[in-house]
Amino acid sequence: MIDPILFQNLLLDWFQAHGRKHLPWQSPRTPYRVWISEIMLQQTQVGTVIPYFEKFMQRFPNLLSFAQAEEDTVLHLWAGLGYYARARHMHRTAQKIVKEFKGEIPQDIKTLQTLPGIGRSTAGAIRSLGFNQPAAILDGNVKRLLCRLHKIDGWPGESKVAQKLWQLAEHYIPSQSPSDYTQAMMDFGTLVCTKRQPRCTHCPFITHCLAYQSNQ
Ligand code: ADE
Repeated sequence: MIDPILFQNLLLDWFQAHGRKHLPWQSPRTPYRVWISEIMLQQTQVGTVIPYFEKFMQRFPNLLSFAQAEEDTVLHLWAGLGYYARARHMHRTAQKIVKEFKGEIPQDIKTLQTLPGIGRSTAGAIRSLGFNQPAAILDGNVKRLLCRLHKIDGWPGESKVAQKLWQLAEHYIPSQSPSDYTQAMMDFGTLVCTKRQPRCTHCPFITHCLAYQSNQ
């Protein structure tokens, strides 16, 4: 298995050269903006999300304004993004944060996971991207990268496989630059370790990747 420090260094070097650093939720990067963007990005592509995110931020520049909105206004802004439960959950979460957490988004993974619409991976994304604190994520991109690197050929939906993948995801997280690291993991799966026709000749892990070595 590749040494975690080497993995982090190779990934962060790749990110400096090729990662996405100008997405609208990256500047300014606040926990509120990261949370809203992560919920929008759960089932929707970046290109579709961007105009919705910008409109949403103009209308609700902070958590309190969002929490105080009428649900109809929220759903209206969401129209076109689909999966409306996301918008309802997000709105309930905003109200809960105002009531129970003095309007501050919690940093802790376990607490984040008690909020509607926030699962373990989204909690990790909010903690790492929003607070720059170490936390693992395991979205589709990360699952694919870890499965290939370690030649795990089970189905990630199976609990034993998922458990193994979480363990690996935790194993690699750095204590330095947790936010860049998480963004790099997401970007790497989108730009290099893609679903179809991965760009293995551009991959910094090519000599470590067990799937590549066995022609899979
Ligand atoms: N998908 C989920 N979160 C993302 C992010 N922060 N940047 C790009 N794609 C994402």
